[in-house]
Amino acid sequence: MTYNIKLRRFKNEDVTALAEFCNDEDLQRYLLLSKLPYSIDDARDFIKYTKYCEKSGGEQCFAITLDDKLIGCVSYTVQSGCHGNSASIGYYIGKEYWHKGIMPLAVKSILEIIFQNASINRVFAEIFAENAPSARVLEKCGFVREGYLRKGIIKNGVVHDAVLYALVR
Ligand SMILES: CC(C)(COP(=O)(O)OP(=O)(O)OC[C@H]1O[C@@H](n2cnc3c(N)ncnc32)[C@H](O)[C@@H]1OP(=O)(O)O)[C@@H](O)C(=O)NCCC(=O)NCCS
Repeated sequence: MTYNIKLRRFKNEDVTALAEFCNDEDLQRYLLLSKLPYSIDDARDFIKYTKYCEKSGGEQCFAITLDDKLIGCVSYTVQSGCHGNSASIGYYIGKEYWHKGIMPLAVKSILEIIFQNASINRVFAEIFAENAPSARVLEKCGFVREGYLRKGIIKNGVVHDAVLYALVR
């Protein structure tokens, strides 16, 4: 099966679709995002945030589309100071699209965007250790597991181990 996956910037019209798939406990389980219920206003705020970051140079967020329908988000953040050659990534898609091999396509697309910046030679992701599907996505995109970060993440007051994956060029 081939999927017509594209990345683009978020638009104001994305609020409804975004609020629908983000309003899901399973989707948010291994994200730092923690907003249930996730409302239209939350989606509107997020889109405003993506536009602000696009201009200010913070987290660069891209809508993932399947046949032009919004299904998720993938983002990167260039680090600062002596880590300025690195970018972190994060990603999610709506539950009905899981386990179809879609996210590896989106991650490969964002890698192409990130590596257009010649000074970036390292891309990394720090994921919840329990998030095996996310680890597979990274492995399928050529990331290497670099470390196990004991008690690396805290979410809603609960501490979790984390795993660090990176891709270098
Ligand atoms: C994690 C997520 C991005 C995966 O995206 P996806 O498009 O479903 O990825 P894939 O279809 O490539 O499937 C993931 C891989 O994990 C495997 N997998 C799925 N469930 C698994 C499990 N419980 N244990 C081990 N492997 C699992 C799949 O079999 C697949 O590997 P394979 O192709 O070798 O068979 C998606 O589930 C998601 O958006 N989750 C919610 C948000 C999230 O957790 N984001 C990551 C934060 S770092």
